[in-house]
Amino acid sequence: NILGAICNLRDITEIRRLEKRLQSHERLAALGEMAASVAHEIRNPLGTIEGFARLLRRDLADMPAPLQLAERIVAGAQNLNYVITNLLTYARPMRLMTTDIPVATLFEYCRETLEDRASRANVSLTIEFPSPSMSLRCDHRQVMQALLNLGINAIEACQPSQTVHISATQRPASVILHIRDTGCGMPPDQVAKVFDPFFTTKEGGTGLGLSLTRKIIDMHGGDIAVASVPGEGTEFTIELAKKGVGE
Ligand SMILES: Nc1ncnc2c1ncn2[C@@H]1O[C@H](COP(=O)(O)OP(=O)(O)OP(=O)(O)O)[C@@H](O)[C@H]1O
Ligand SMILES: [Mg+2]
Repeated sequence: NILGAICNLRDITEIRRLEKRLQSHERLAALGEMAASVAHEIRNPLGTIEGFARLLRRDLADMPAPLQLAERIVAGAQNLNYVITNLLTYARPMRLMTTDIPVATLFEYCRETLEDRASRANVSLTIEFPSPSMSLRCDHRQVMQALLNLGINAIEACQPSQTVHISATQRPASVILHIRDTGCGMPPDQVAKVFDPFFTTKEGGTGLGLSLTRKIIDMHGGDIAVASVPGEGTEFTIELAKKGVGE
């Protein structure tokens, strides 16, 4: 005699859907890791190409035609390096390796790349080096990448003969880096979007430069701000604690 039956139904559609999402997430993460290691492998030979092209450029100083070709190799290698470094920083989880470093040394690391770009664009670049006693505890590679991103944007915002000025000031416990240009400037609705990943107004831009820069400054517990007037120019400021993260 059957007295009754219990029927237990469970809807597992949601579980299956989550499993599928997890799989595609894992695939994406694996792809990201692979891209990061390929990018890493590309950067070393790229550094060699840039280095030798610089030597070539030096040796060809009084031969305008071949000099121009060497100049193109340097510029191409620098561009590739910039894009790859940004992608790498984006793809990998960020870990800070902090050391004490004078702000002037940070500026010195960026000088050559920015001067090259400024001179190609006919933009007048001035870097005001602070005294060696002004120093900072930070991951200098990351902060240098942030400075390069801001410096390159500033140069790209300028017409020939406009100016970019990089300087540093300090407060008792922090250092403030200023990247100022007299370029095109931005209306408020554009300023509101500049830190969004993939926001770009440039043909061929990735739109990752500023979102990465902000990620780097956030990781350091610092602040980044922007003030801009259309037709007059833009100033980005970065404030970082002298003693580094969380101290
Ligand atoms: N100094 C500046 N003056 C005027 N506009 C700027 C300035 N800096 C950034 N922008 C605006 O913000 C946008 C986003 O900048 P971001 O550096 O993130 O990307 P991108 O420069 O367009 O591309 P990428 O950095 O990959 O070359 C730029 O496309 C530009 O419209
Ligand atoms: Mg940029």
